[in-house]
Amino acid sequence: MKFSALAALVACVPTFVKAAGSGNPFDGATVFLTPSYVEEVTAAVVNISDATLASQAALVEQIPVFFWMDVAAKVSDLGDILSQADAAGGTQVIQAVIYDLPDRDCAAEASAGEFTIADGGAEKYQAYIDSIVEQVERFPNVRVVFVVEPDGLANLVTNLSVPKCANAESTYKELVSYAIAQLQQNNVWLYLDAGHSGWLGWPANLQPAADMFASVLQGAGGNATVRGLATDVSNYNLLRGAEDPAQAPNPNYDEELYVNALAPLLQQSNFPSQFIVDQGRSGVSGIRTAEGDWCNVLGAGLGPRPSTDTGNDLIDAIVWVKPPGESDGTSNSSAARFDSHCAQSDAAQPAPEAGTWFQSYFETLVQNASPPLS
Ligand SMILES: *[C@@H]1O[C@H](CO)[C@@H](O)[C@H](O)[C@H]1NC(C)=O
Ligand SMILES: *[C@@H]1O[C@H](CO)[C@@H](O)[C@H](O)[C@H]1NC(C)=O
Ligand SMILES: *[C@@H]1O[C@H](CO)[C@@H](O)[C@H](O)[C@H]1NC(C)=O
Ligand SMILES: *[C@@H]1O[C@H](CO)[C@@H](O)[C@H](O)[C@H]1NC(C)=O
Repeated sequence: MKFSALAALVACVPTFVKAAGSGNPFDGATVFLTPSYVEEVTAAVVNISDATLASQAALVEQIPVFFWMDVAAKVSDLGDILSQADAAGGTQVIQAVIYDLPDRDCAAEASAGEFTIADGGAEKYQAYIDSIVEQVERFPNVRVVFVVEPDGLANLVTNLSVPKCANAESTYKELVSYAIAQLQQNNVWLYLDAGHSGWLGWPANLQPAADMFASVLQGAGGNATVRGLATDVSNYNLLRGAEDPAQAPNPNYDEELYVNALAPLLQQSNFPSQFIVDQGRSGVSGIRTAEGDWCNVLGAGLGPRPSTDTGNDLIDAIVWVKPPGESDGTSNSSAARFDSHCAQSDAAQPAPEAGTWFQSYFETLVQNASPPLS
């Protein structure tokens, strides 16, 4: 009886032709190393005189991080990575960040981008997405995991009092919907960026956040889907652990508490509630004077290594989205993209421009790694 009931059930399951974002993309797959990060780390290791530290740092070459397409010119590099992953054979996953909204980083300065809304940035962004689509369609056998627009929608949830964010609201939403609608290939898994526990994890922000994600997905059209959300991108929170005093009195003070609190609200809106969590720099807790501090935080260490062994069915994988060693922003107060967070007492200084290599910071991340590198 049991078996025939099961057979009947299986027979009734419709056969989906299209299944963007279905299943955990990391299951049964090898995560392809980003060649440019391997090169950065290799160059960094050569300059470390302490032999123990150098050998620990060299191990970072083998840890997959995301490739950031922070300018449209990097989309061709995505094509190169896809091509190399395809040639490597087997089931490969490549990881990349879609990060080029016009008027980007609307509530801060350090990561302002190449496009502006005033100068046709919306059309340029659509062309950027279209060029990404072209690349992923060339390599249907390579799985592609995208984190979509770090901080973008989160800024719309909490920072509309900043004029640049208010002005960007409708454009951000339309363009993220556009990206979702275009990136529905079978080999693509999308995780929209959802800030982190100390941001959207505050109880008052959870429902507005869920509503925002649901509305952007609806904007992508009836059948479009995503795999879920990415949290803690470029941040420092623990997946689980003791409360960081800087988070008090937030009851959702770590990423797992945040994920567990947000998921039911997403489910009520039919928004897919799987997560990936960045832990690249989450080795050390309790290092910030304020939870909102995000720039090259002093005392940070490399965190748990990427893994599908997450201890929580809502979380597909621990990942490293932000490449550890790349700066969050310059501490030079005369620079055009200076943000005061990068010159605070809990920020490592002097720091180079966002995205560029920060050797001394990389060395302390390795030194403070938890678990240690060995
Ligand atoms: C390594 O040291 C050389 C010589 O001092 C320098 O030119 C190069 O920029 C350094 N590279 C890194 C990653 O620090
Ligand atoms: C953006 O929102 C966060 C969370 O509410 C807040 O901490 C931060 O100060 C805001 N940024 C600006 C520039 O207002
Ligand atoms: C959704 O998919 C169904 C089945 O493939 C199709 O008939 C329908 O037109 C699609 N709807 C939209 C809005 O694309
Ligand atoms: C800081 O930025 C200004 C403006 O770009 C530049 O002239 C100056 O050389 C920079 N200072 C340092 C120490 O890099």
